[in-house]
Amino acid sequence: MKFETSTKSIDKLSADSLIVGLFEEGQLTETDVAVDMATKGLISELIGEKVFAGKEGETLCLRRPEGLAAEELILVGFGPIESFDETAFERAFKAGLGAAHGKNVAVTLIDWLPTTRTVEWSAMHMARLAMTAAEPLKEADVNEKNDRKIIFVLPKASPAVKEAAAFGKAIAQALNEAKYLGNLPANVCTPEYLADHAKSYKKLSGVTVTIYDRKDMEKLGMRSVLAVSSGSANAPRFIELKYNGGKKDEAPICLVGKGITFDAGGLCVKPSARMGEMKYDMCGAASVMAVFHAAVLMKLPLNLVVLVPACENLPDGQAYRPSDVIKTLSGLTVEVVNTDAEGRLILADALAYAARFEPQALIDVATLTGAVEVALGDMHTGLFVNDPVLCETLETAADVAQDAVWALPFNGRYFKDLIKSNVADCVNTGPRGKAGSSVAATFLAQFVNDDTPWAHLDVAATAWKGGSQPVSTGRPTALLLTWLHQMAETR
Ligand code: BES
Ligand code: MN
Ligand code: ZN
Repeated sequence: MKFETSTKSIDKLSADSLIVGLFEEGQLTETDVAVDMATKGLISELIGEKVFAGKEGETLCLRRPEGLAAEELILVGFGPIESFDETAFERAFKAGLGAAHGKNVAVTLIDWLPTTRTVEWSAMHMARLAMTAAEPLKEADVNEKNDRKIIFVLPKASPAVKEAAAFGKAIAQALNEAKYLGNLPANVCTPEYLADHAKSYKKLSGVTVTIYDRKDMEKLGMRSVLAVSSGSANAPRFIELKYNGGKKDEAPICLVGKGITFDAGGLCVKPSARMGEMKYDMCGAASVMAVFHAAVLMKLPLNLVVLVPACENLPDGQAYRPSDVIKTLSGLTVEVVNTDAEGRLILADALAYAARFEPQALIDVATLTGAVEVALGDMHTGLFVNDPVLCETLETAADVAQDAVWALPFNGRYFKDLIKSNVADCVNTGPRGKAGSSVAATFLAQFVNDDTPWAHLDVAATAWKGGSQPVSTGRPTALLLTWLHQMAETR
């Protein structure tokens, strides 16, 4: 897909499809007025005769409209002017694109401005929406959706709009990659598969890929990952991706993703209903890998480290058990109370390992707790963060990317008391029904240096949509890439 800008007047635009928005019972936009003039009152007529009302997502396709150079005019309803927000924008643009028959599609940016957004914001989201593949993704769709061209019509030429569109395209490609990986069945997407996928980044400049197998992990002392993986015939992998795009001595940003390729719960086996959805338990890994890939392709001037502990959590004669005590990589010991709280165990080793890079910021992404859906529903990703600046920059990026987060409490004495153990430094689960997501974050905090700005994103309710046809959303890929982009700009 290509993106272009044009400063031609609306009547002279020779696109295949010209998409024009119209408010419901509201005033005409600048473009509506221009189109109305060029077509000798076509818009006024359609409204007056109640052919088109401008309801949110409503569309009308008019072929070869007289007075316009475009092959077709697509009218799309914006809904009421007072409720034209980011959601209405998205619905209207998707509807408009869906109704367009041509390859070259033109859209006037200045009409597409929900609340306080800029034309750059609109261009970025239009590019993202146009490029995000239909679900579920087939392999061929990962890189390119179709051969369309979007023409952004502007009063004057703007390199910033072009850059914004390129960024939107990069987000879409990363989202498509994360979704594709997430949707793969667990018999295909094994720890080894994830490692092989990571190896494909080797050919990119500035990238180093290191894969640790079981033996390497034994040497390193990642006993927590090994314990979780012990019930599976699919051997674990620890994936380390490095990108040197920044200054040599600059501290890296480190992203960690939970890579449980299937979570049956281990010996504390899950109920069979919806167990299949636990193939999505590697969505954190999929997201950070896709973000890494995109950041490298964009040549962001940053140093990046991405870590993925990848393994499967299955019950078996070799499986780890409730009551086991694990000495984790950091030296802290954990009493296993529930083998289904495996995500925090593998993250414990990965977060402890991350310390050796002395990162300027550390962010982990994990489908960690069912409880986060009880707390927040499936709109907001749970955010747990130990640093006010990191909190603010993530919230800003989430708003720009329309990939919502909500900060929750953790790590106070109340939560710490809930994971005390008689036989080890801590247990791996708190009492049922008591702030499970905050308890999990408190557990993770033990493996992070207090002076490292750190955020934990619990995407258990947002990384995929459940139901009869579950599908990966790719979240929080847009948030992370937007945040990295922001970090690169404000460095
Ligand atoms: N991968 C699950 C979290 C999960 C559960 C995500 C349901 C989406 C839907 C995680 O490993 C898990 O099993 N967590 C347990 C923790 C509990 C044993 C403390 C949970 O949430 O039930
Ligand atoms: Mn589990
Ligand atoms: Zn899990």
